Amino acid sequence: MYILGIESSCDETAAAIVSDRKEILSNVIYSQIEEHKPYNGVVPEVAARAHLEKIDIVVEKALVDANLSLDNIDAIAGTCGPGLIGGVIVGATFAKSLAFAKKIPFIAVNHIEAHALSVRLTEEVEFPYLLILASGGHCQICVVHDIDNFQILGRTLDDSVGESFDKVSKLLDFGYPGGPVIEKLYYEGDHDKFSLPRPMCSRGNCDFSFSGLKTAVLNASQKCNSLQNRKDLAASFQKTVAEIMSFKMKQALNFCSNQKIKINAAVISGGVAANLVIRERLKKICGSVPFLVPPVKFCTDNGAMIAWLGVEKFKRNQFNELDFPPRPRWPLGEQIQREKI
Ligand code: KG4
Ligand code: ZN
Repeated sequence: MYILGIESSCDETAAAIVSDRKEILSNVIYSQIEEHKPYNGVVPEVAARAHLEKIDIVVEKALVDANLSLDNIDAIAGTCGPGLIGGVIVGATFAKSLAFAKKIPFIAVNHIEAHALSVRLTEEVEFPYLLILASGGHCQICVVHDIDNFQILGRTLDDSVGESFDKVSKLLDFGYPGGPVIEKLYYEGDHDKFSLPRPMCSRGNCDFSFSGLKTAVLNASQKCNSLQNRKDLAASFQKTVAEIMSFKMKQALNFCSNQKIKINAAVISGGVAANLVIRERLKKICGSVPFLVPPVKFCTDNGAMIAWLGVEKFKRNQFNELDFPPRPRWPLGEQIQREKI
């Protein structure tokens, strides 16, 4: 079975073809970084226009790279939310139109759930598993019991972790996108130079808070008088975030053990999972629990994770009507019942 997945919820226009045997036949990503760079962040209207310009080219390339035609595709999976509404409408409408034209099923995919399940595309991992989902828009810890059953253990009370990377990079004048830039600076700066707070780490729960850390970086930055000083601050921030993530992972592992939830693995996914400093820390804290993470290219937004959730849903006969609404907000695990009028 071949599923075409289409993604357009933020600043990547992406399409991929994945089979039920976990073959990734193509994975095309058009990144809009250059379009958004001048503004130091993603501009929704610019994003929507860029998706509109590129979507047909990206989907066509996914078919060419896979050496397949639309006649070989069994279903189209499209991100229907959450995300920037303009981009979501572009991708979801494109996906539905293809499904309608080819008379094949349409599968509405929740972008966050696709991140949450993406590890099963490249690893053999059974449910349940512990997951830190860390992206630009989301930061939560949950136990994944099934493709649509997420037991939330904690979430951020303010900024997401990806957002805090982006904001800190911006305020230190290192530009967009913040995550990869700050990760690189970790190796160029002295990460012990600044002592930064680790909000919520004196509490034994799995919630996060990053806004206080960001403010601490802002205050410290006002005393920085050299480029090297700012690099040291970025490196210290990166180290602190890695410490916070590993502390919270430990809390979640303890919770699972106390509640006798037999998890098969501990996983991090979402854009921030691309961060090797964080991965290293988490791996250490997991001890005998297998620590799994998708390959870097499947951590940040991509079509393969959308297609893969399409495969998982196809196997369970979970298809959607073509009037499925695009949703700017769509919490993890929330089932949508479309009211018929
Ligand atoms: O999952 P993603 O591509 O898009 C969303 O669904 O939000 O995540 C994007 C976020 C951005 O905030 C970006 O700065 C962060 O992931 N990110 C990283 C890294 N690569 C991307 N954060 C830390 N280290 C990285 N290497
Ligand atoms: Zn994402």
